[in-house]
Amino acid sequence: MNLPFAHRVIFSEDEIADRVQELGREITAFYKERQGPAASVVIVSMLKGAFVFLADLMRYIELDLSVDFMAISSYGATDTKSGVRIEKDLSGSIYNQNVMIVEDIIDTGLTLSYILRNLKSRAPAEIKICTLLDRAVARIAPIEIDYRGFEVGREFFIGYGLDYRQKWRNLKYICSPEGLEEENGESVLALFGDP
Ligand code: PRP
Repeated sequence: MNLPFAHRVIFSEDEIADRVQELGREITAFYKERQGPAASVVIVSMLKGAFVFLADLMRYIELDLSVDFMAISSYGATDTKSGVRIEKDLSGSIYNQNVMIVEDIIDTGLTLSYILRNLKSRAPAEIKICTLLDRAVARIAPIEIDYRGFEVGREFFIGYGLDYRQKWRNLKYICSPEGLEEENGESVLALFGDP
């Protein structure tokens, strides 16, 4: 797909596919080693960004697996996210279950620290965390990540689920658009404005 703005490919379709398969195998091996062939996990994923990664990853996890979704919105400045609101809650119980949270990117960690507190209050057996991208350099709330695809820097990313103003999630690769400027504390593609 041709993008109407300059960009740099950060992770190609093949690089992503290879890493996702590795993660799926590692996750499968971990649970099987610990719990045997009947190992089970409930994957909890945050809409919307993680759905592309999740769809690929889960096909490489060979376990008794179910999937549930949450949608959340945060408010307040990006670096404080003073509050997180649950727009859509899980549809099932996670009581006494092995839960794995699947995210596309962990940035400040503020969203996930809220979600972790919330999910822990439902008494799951345990919670593991898997993220495709880990922007550790931006972390404010410490998060222990069990599985990470790639560690990344401060660039802005789009593609493979990640959006710019809700667009470009459908790219098969992850890239960094050039010509991004700050306007009122928000990133704006200087050449194109609102897509
Ligand atoms: C992204 C990502 C995480 C959150 C991480 O979601 O999917 O949920 O931000 O940021 P944090 O670590 O700084 O809290 P986003 O708000 O972009 O929504 P989306 O998933 O719908 O794209």
